[in-house]
Amino acid sequence: MKDFQLIVNFKTYDNATGNNALELAKIHEKVAQETGVGIAIAVQAVDLRHVAEEVSIPVLAQHFDFVRNGVHTGHVTAQALKDSGAYGTLLNHAERRIDLDDIEESVDLARQLGLFTIVCADTPYTGKAVAALNPHMVAVEPPELIGGDVSVCTANPQILMDAVAMIDNAPVVIGAGIKTKEDVAHAIKHGASAVLVASGVIRSMDPEQTLRELAQGVIEGQKGAVEHTL
Ligand code: G3P
Repeated sequence: MKDFQLIVNFKTYDNATGNNALELAKIHEKVAQETGVGIAIAVQAVDLRHVAEEVSIPVLAQHFDFVRNGVHTGHVTAQALKDSGAYGTLLNHAERRIDLDDIEESVDLARQLGLFTIVCADTPYTGKAVAALNPHMVAVEPPELIGGDVSVCTANPQILMDAVAMIDNAPVVIGAGIKTKEDVAHAIKHGASAVLVASGVIRSMDPEQTLRELAQGVIEGQKGAVEHTL
């Protein structure tokens, strides 16, 4: 299993789509190689193959549709992700929610195909519920802070504390509004296994420099990490 502490969601930002996605992915690979911090990226389904073929860091999908192959026009299947070279996928992101039953079946199917799963949740309580479905990681992101300038670590640090305390059977990822080295260091220090970021990197004037700073936050957070047991 590949280890990563930063997950950058390219969402549907123009500068993270198509050829821009590839260019940005290469910057992520470069920073990962130079800092030694594990970085994964989540790209649009149509960008998976051309990005995954060109970079060595884990490339995730942002979602898949729980349908078996066959008569489902317009859907993106787990098998298609796998064949495109995806390392894994986000599921149930705040911008792409799915029913709890579908999360369970999606996680099972992804596992059968060897896809890594990061299931998102809006609160630590929901995180605990989805952790019971056996994903590889659970990402807690309060939706009201996504895309904003105030990070979850600043607005309500208790969310991370609760998530780490309550979700004892899966590594916890925290996200929403994270933009600084200090946010990342805080999250890692207090038990997050990884941080999920989008606008902080993608909308930065200098994504490479921002990534370096966030990677430094991982390193500093790991040095000061409080012991947490899974
Ligand atoms: O998937 C990451 C995300 O939802 C957080 O977005 O822009 O607040 O870092 P952002």
